[in-house]
Amino acid sequence: NLYKEVNRPQFHFTTKRGWINDPNGLIFHDDEYHLFYQHNPMEREWENMHWGHAVSKDLIHWEELPTALYPDELGTMFSGSAVIDHDNTAGFNCGDTAAMIAFYTVASPDRQVQCMAYSLDNGRSWTKYGNNPLIDSKEKWNSVDTRDPKVFWHAPSMRWVMVLNERDGHSIYTSQNLKDWQYQSHVTGFWECPELFELPVDGDENNKKWIMYGATGTYMIGSFDGRVFTPEAGKYYYCSGAQYAAQTFNNIPQTDGRRIQIGWGRISQGEEAFNGMMMLPTSLSLRTTKEGPRLIVKPVTEVEQLFTQNGSWKNLTAEQANKHLEQYHDTDRIRIKARIKLSHATDAGLSLNGQRIVNYDMNGNMLNGMFYSPEERTSMTLSADIFIDRTSVEVFFDDGVYTSYQERKANTNDKQGFHFFGNNIQVEELEIYEVKSIWT
Ligand code: FRU
Repeated sequence: NLYKEVNRPQFHFTTKRGWINDPNGLIFHDDEYHLFYQHNPMEREWENMHWGHAVSKDLIHWEELPTALYPDELGTMFSGSAVIDHDNTAGFNCGDTAAMIAFYTVASPDRQVQCMAYSLDNGRSWTKYGNNPLIDSKEKWNSVDTRDPKVFWHAPSMRWVMVLNERDGHSIYTSQNLKDWQYQSHVTGFWECPELFELPVDGDENNKKWIMYGATGTYMIGSFDGRVFTPEAGKYYYCSGAQYAAQTFNNIPQTDGRRIQIGWGRISQGEEAFNGMMMLPTSLSLRTTKEGPRLIVKPVTEVEQLFTQNGSWKNLTAEQANKHLEQYHDTDRIRIKARIKLSHATDAGLSLNGQRIVNYDMNGNMLNGMFYSPEERTSMTLSADIFIDRTSVEVFFDDGVYTSYQERKANTNDKQGFHFFGNNIQVEELEIYEVKSIWT
């Protein structure tokens, strides 16, 4: 009965049992996507962190593997990242086999230190480096909040770069051998799970910008010279709600070129033996809007294999649209695409059994709890690509300018199902899709 439990998400990764939070060590290598994650294999509560491990060929169907990293005498295994050491800079490679190297935080009650471990068998077994820890930043920062190393290769400066959450923001360290790290700079205003990567603006490879973000879904756009990130714009939100601690994949082949991200989604309902899920993998890009470049977040195209269209309509009143959705009021999973034309409603959107899954307050410019000023103010339409699973609701607004994640409220007394609401709204487009389970 595994994967058939009442609250088991049907198209999102979950573990067979135990607690999960942050994705860790996201990396593509030898035709596999690796998803490591914060994991308490024993209980459904956060405690006793390990690195769990799963692999996938298509980012959608995952196979859970044995635990990758266990707590040791320094403490428990907190979040981090992974690289492939193609040039053997750390000296762990064996013949033609390049080491996969994980960077993680080891946490104890009064100290957090950065460590490394390597694998020569595609992440199946790990050897911890003998001279851990690499960085004990308590000395410099006098803070126990020093964690979540994200490491990547910076080709222009021929250095490894580590972004690290330290006290009140993200620090940048560099290294040539992955073992000795030099402190370079610090950006305040972020918290946990740092990311730093480059994206072309509007697909133009000659005009690239760097993005820095933290666990809460806020980002800055700027430049990076290998040592210092210089913010030019932000912070902006790309995501509202209960998504947290997203990370992007390292080592995606250049022929693919995508910046693929996975975030952690909380689950609080239920008494199942597992807890926590990974959100849909998304692809990130930078698009120029009327207000400047913004991060665009869309589900990767691989997700499309899960959906079969059940119906498609144009130019409906809210009542007509509600009628089409009537039969789905107790569905466990569904995808709905809608384009809503707004009038002068203060609140407009779509609710599911009383839970507002799309909620736009036009007077206050608030969309699902976040400030949102639409790009095309004159047209006054809002498009929403809505993915509903047993415990979650993810929405991608206006082609990815904003996303939102909510836990799906179970046990609600309101049984009216899907309900478009708002004064004189029109549903210009409505599409309904059935969703396959990834577990069958
Ligand atoms: C973010 C976080 C990280 C930490 C991990 C511990 O959710 O608090 O900063 O490494 O979770 O599980």
